Amino acid sequence: MNETAHTPVLLQEVLEGLAVMPGGWYVDCTIGLGGHSRAILEASSPSGRLLGLDADPQTLEQARLRLSEFGSRARLVCGNFSELARIAHENGVTQANGILMDLGLSSWQLADADRGFSFQQNGAADMRFNPEKGNSAADLLNTLPESEIAELIWKYGEEPESRRVARAIVAARPIRRASDLAGIVAGAIRKRGKIHPATRTFQALRIAVNRELESLEEALPQAAQLLAPGARLAVISFHSLEDRIVKTFFRNESRDCICPPGLPGCVCNHRAIVRMVSKKPITPGPREIAANPRARSAKLRIVERLGVAS
Ligand SMILES: C[S@@+](CC[C@H](N)C(=O)[O-])C[C@H]1O[C@@H](n2cnc3c(N)ncnc32)[C@H](O)[C@@H]1O
Repeated sequence: MNETAHTPVLLQEVLEGLAVMPGGWYVDCTIGLGGHSRAILEASSPSGRLLGLDADPQTLEQARLRLSEFGSRARLVCGNFSELARIAHENGVTQANGILMDLGLSSWQLADADRGFSFQQNGAADMRFNPEKGNSAADLLNTLPESEIAELIWKYGEEPESRRVARAIVAARPIRRASDLAGIVAGAIRKRGKIHPATRTFQALRIAVNRELESLEEALPQAAQLLAPGARLAVISFHSLEDRIVKTFFRNESRDCICPPGLPGCVCNHRAIVRMVSKKPITPGPREIAANPRARSAKLRIVERLGVAS
């Protein structure tokens, strides 16, 4: 197992955005190596508690080691944030004083050849956050019809040459190794840009394998419901597909009416449950991007639960 570190993105902005204070329950839905969680536990010291989730059992074990000094203040659970309400309930968290989602994967997962996330590594083309659940990327690529592979690469990777890529993949089956897949994709792509030609295809496969967008859509309403009045939900996204889901959810849930325009009166009876803390997303400055290039595409959006804090 590699020892690559993971630098938490927009750390100060998250702490300020969540207004972390001593006491209460904080929930980190994507604990990773615990960088944000450590800072939250320190800022909420001595009595603040943290419920940390990760879908990846290996990552969770790392977080457990790294946060052991906080003892029972940190409660760590292996699970998907799409089941946030159930997991919170089972762990005695009825209301959260702040919730964080730092989406995607960590540098630690990317650097582990055995996980298949990186096109630069020779591990099996797996890409599952939890290698014991669901189908791997190789399973999908070796069984789906060409048209479905092309659609997936287009939908989740926005790869303009998705059809050519799908054709090359099907011709080269069976696909086993991430590096072989990268070579097949690179050979199929005609237009070369600044990024590695397999970047978009790898992103698409990871999103599909882990149902990342569906999980996010399922988790956001549960997170908003779990917030105590006046508490905040912060979400860091790394690509436009994720950010669109977060932005749409935050916009809708901060409005009293979400009827389509042009109706004579409101028929939806929708009521706002949050307010947007800032209209525009918070992004890293040049210094953070220079120190941690992974941060360059990060967007942090924050909402605050309406109601009077008790
Ligand atoms: C960007 S990393 C988080 C890094 C973390 N904030 C830190 O400072 O170390 C994202 C983490 O979320 C996990 N993850 C992604 N989707 C998830 C989901 N639906 N449910 C739970 N964990 C998820 C990944 O396994 C990964 O460890």
